[in-house]
Amino acid sequence: MNSSRILVVDDEVNERQGLAELLTAWGYQVETAADGMQALQRIGQEPPQAVLTDIRMPRMDGLELLAEIRQRFGALPVLVITGQGSKEAAVECLRLRANDFIEKPLRGEELKQRLADVVRGVPESHGATGEEWEFLGQSSVAENIRRELARVAPTTASVLITGESGTGKEVVARQLHRLSPRRDRAFIAVNCAAIPESLMESEIFGHEKGAFTGAQERRAGCFELAEGGTLLLDEIGEMPLATQAKLLRVLEDRKIRRLGSKTELAVNVRLLAATNKNPAQAVARGQLREDLYFRLNVFHLHLPPLRGHLEDLPVLAAGLLRKLAARHERPAEGLAPELLARLRDYGWPGNVRELRNVLEHALIVADTPYLQTRHLPHDFGAAPAPADAGDPGRISIAVGATVAEAERLLILKTLEREGNNKTRAAEKLGISLKTLQNKLKEYQGREAEPPAAP
Ligand SMILES: Nc1ncnc2c1ncn2[C@@H]1O[C@H](COP(=O)(O)OP(=O)(O)OP(=O)(O)O)[C@@H](O)[C@H]1O
Ligand SMILES: [Mg+2]
Repeated sequence: MNSSRILVVDDEVNERQGLAELLTAWGYQVETAADGMQALQRIGQEPPQAVLTDIRMPRMDGLELLAEIRQRFGALPVLVITGQGSKEAAVECLRLRANDFIEKPLRGEELKQRLADVVRGVPESHGATGEEWEFLGQSSVAENIRRELARVAPTTASVLITGESGTGKEVVARQLHRLSPRRDRAFIAVNCAAIPESLMESEIFGHEKGAFTGAQERRAGCFELAEGGTLLLDEIGEMPLATQAKLLRVLEDRKIRRLGSKTELAVNVRLLAATNKNPAQAVARGQLREDLYFRLNVFHLHLPPLRGHLEDLPVLAAGLLRKLAARHERPAEGLAPELLARLRDYGWPGNVRELRNVLEHALIVADTPYLQTRHLPHDFGAAPAPADAGDPGRISIAVGATVAEAERLLILKTLEREGNNKTRAAEKLGISLKTLQNKLKEYQGREAEPPAAP
């Protein structure tokens, strides 16, 4: 009668099988997963029409799974099974945009009805995430990024995305994936700064059962989850050097080996890497392997800070406001001119993310369809703007710095501005490539203070 595919996620083998049998009897095609990680892997391979998940599970619980699904797969319908009378869980389900939730103990008829409703509600396209992560901006800076995106997206080249925190590196990575021929496959983002060092390799490459204490089951790593799709290694500068060495080998051989496994698996994954640090500087400081850096830096996209393209502010504000208004179901028509003027005068150290947060605050407290200056957070503008505000192409050197420090700062900044192209940077600096290389070598290993802005 109906052949929708449903993914049932539950760590309790009896419950899982019971549900699977029930759903099969109702005419669904059923797949199962024992936890959130496994579920994500399944969905990445072939998205089902809906996911039915329990909450309490090891490794990744149902709510985390829901959050990941919304991030990676947009509007894929999810029905969550919550514990009896758990109000917090119900609230979390709504906040994380579950399509529905159902309380234990399960009653067959009710489950059948709710599941049918959730499946019927399947939207034509999973446009929600696309909308959420749309890249906004009309300045020449933004147009330039758009052009570069369109140029590099169809290829399989690795791309290194740099820029200060909140400049939209993840936005750009997702856009890249969406513009690529891999758009229908998984987009997996892993934040290297958020994973404990001891778990990093298992997270990225996966492990076999018993590979180390605590490895109770075989687990697929990010490369496997991203098979056929795109993997974003976020905060790449935070990856331990030993893992970087392994990663380099994977990029060269296009094969991975799970921890504790003897066999290699071929992988077909497009790699993106992001960092809010200056990668050349990270190399110079010995935090990023130079050979890995070259591998990742096949194409470099640098996102300038918001203060460097304030002409985008009205477009960004309007676009972000529209999305926020939809999400919070509040009427918001736009920004009053005084408010916009006030926003233009600010230095935006937190870039577009900060703008988004400020707008979200204003939207929530607003009592008029046009947001006003008085709707800004009380402490708005209290934080001082960075010293080089207004001109990302400048460095500031305090009197008291040595000539060597000034030289180093200028060299690294120029390199960054030239997309880490040493030849071009040397040209700009008026020195030979050899001299530049020697300088960079000299900086390497020296664990000096960052030469960045005072
Ligand atoms: N060009 C843009 N268009 C639309 N939204 C943007 C843009 N840039 C940033 N944003 C918004 O700002 C927020 C932060 O963007 P994102 O997460 O991509 O930043 P990031 O550069 O990865 O920051 P971090 O280094 O802190 O991880 C996003 O939620 C997004 O809404
Ligand atoms: Mg990010």
